[in-house]
Amino acid sequence: MNPSNHFEIPGSVSLQTGKGGLPLIRIESAASSAEIYYHGAHVSHFQRRNEPPLLFMSEASEFEAGKPIRGGVPIVFPWFGARDGMPMHGFARLAEWNVVTSKLLPDGSVMLHFRLPHDDMFDTDFIVTVGETLAMELSVTNTGRSDFRFESCLHTYFQIGDIHQVEIAGLKGARYLDTLVSQEFTEAEETIRFTGETDRVYQNSSAGVEIRDPVLRRIIRVRKSGSLSTVVWNPWIAKSQRMPDFGDDEYLRMLCVESGNVKENATVLKPGETSILRAEISSEVTS
Ligand code: BG6
Repeated sequence: MNPSNHFEIPGSVSLQTGKGGLPLIRIESAASSAEIYYHGAHVSHFQRRNEPPLLFMSEASEFEAGKPIRGGVPIVFPWFGARDGMPMHGFARLAEWNVVTSKLLPDGSVMLHFRLPHDDMFDTDFIVTVGETLAMELSVTNTGRSDFRFESCLHTYFQIGDIHQVEIAGLKGARYLDTLVSQEFTEAEETIRFTGETDRVYQNSSAGVEIRDPVLRRIIRVRKSGSLSTVVWNPWIAKSQRMPDFGDDEYLRMLCVESGNVKENATVLKPGETSILRAEISSEVTS
């Protein structure tokens, strides 16, 4: 595909060739920079000026049509997890999205609007605003004649200094499914720490989450709306070794905190209805 560059804004938005020869949009806002692939409308990079990148990207990631990118923000839609004979986590992260428009906003931030190629059942739009924060909005409208049930998730990979020292606050009291043992628990801890493979789906939780990272001396905050699920994932040692597109030691400096609506929090839209899933990521340097 040879995408058009109708959305370019000199000095702010440019079309470039990314890894694997895939088309990439490079964004420079007053406060930050970002990169987004057409492939999956995948935000692969976000960095505030004078701070390390906020998003983790695996050195081993493949950048190839038909394969997901390992890092950044894969869009999980319209289902979460495995489905018989279908791609894991849905087809949105494997699709080539279209760019509808771009805009330079008065505060110096830059907005990019993507749309999934047409489907008879639903319209899907993804709006990314790159500025002091990274704001992402996935909007789905049921254009069919019957109810549409789907799962969605902004599967965000964060870059951290050391998985052994990081902690996550904000989920105390939330019920979660521990996918590793297929059992439900209630989060008893004020903060979550990592001592092994972790794969949890927190349900009915609209709370924001804080990632405290003493090594990179940074607090990352995820604020969300239109989202009742938060997935927390780190593959640890054995799973990292099994994943072909992930380095054996990379689990040490990443973790996923994913905002979405999955499992019992799946969205059901009546014909004509729209839902909006929004996550905004900010960071604060600590001393
Ligand atoms: C998480 C799931 O959301 O995604 C994990 O909870 C899964 O079970 C992980 O391993 C990565 O999935 P994938 O398809 O990108 O390897």
